[in-house]
Amino acid sequence: MTIKTTALLGGAAAALLIGLTLGAGPGGDAQAQSMRQWGPQWTASGELALPRDYRGWVFLGAPLTPNALNGGQAGFPEFHNVYIHPEPYRIYRETGTFPEGTVLVKELQLTLPSTSADGSSVEASGRGYFPGKLNGLDVAVKDSKRFAETRGWGFFNFGHHEPPYAASAKVADAAQCAGCHLANATKEMVFTKFYTLLYAD
Ligand code: HEC
Repeated sequence: MTIKTTALLGGAAAALLIGLTLGAGPGGDAQAQSMRQWGPQWTASGELALPRDYRGWVFLGAPLTPNALNGGQAGFPEFHNVYIHPEPYRIYRETGTFPEGTVLVKELQLTLPSTSADGSSVEASGRGYFPGKLNGLDVAVKDSKRFAETRGWGFFNFGHHEPPYAASAKVADAAQCAGCHLANATKEMVFTKFYTLLYAD
């Protein structure tokens, strides 16, 4: 009798466990499925595919390093238009952490051609720097396992020239990208201090 009860209880516990596992399953799948919509796409050889439709994502800001103020050769000329997909943006705002699979895109955009030594031009709104041709694409991806050696983020360059950009890119050497982010970034490997949307109420 005792043995039978134990067996029954064991059965109930097992059923409960199965129930819990099944219950957890669809939730986890939903998260993974959602990440497949906005996360990185990898080619068969392990390169990052060029992100699509990023110009419609959340626009975080546009730091500006004009060539004319950097000896004619800014490392990243000139506007840096930075984007994040709305879903990892929402999760970051809720949790203060970038979810696995976050993709940050930085598209370079030249200023309008200028005849001034400082590279500025005069338009209806005043003297300043105005957006011109698109000129390159850099991407950062959070994947703590794949990029464990560079603090969980991988860096990719799809060309520093006007579009079309490369269809896919290999992870860049740490010295080329990750090193500077590691030394200077303000949150994980990201320069959050330049993006009001990531910290303001
Ligand atoms: C010498 C330092 C330095 C190097 C090298 C560097 N970056 Fe950055 N990166 C920055 C700074 C500073 C910002 C933020 C402000 C800006 O765009 O100027 C930034 C911003 C970014 C962003 C937007 C998200 C963020 O972290 O703010 C991406 C994506 C990015 N860099 C990718 C790359 C890639 C890819 C490479 C290598 C090809 C690279 N970076 C090399 C300094 C660097």
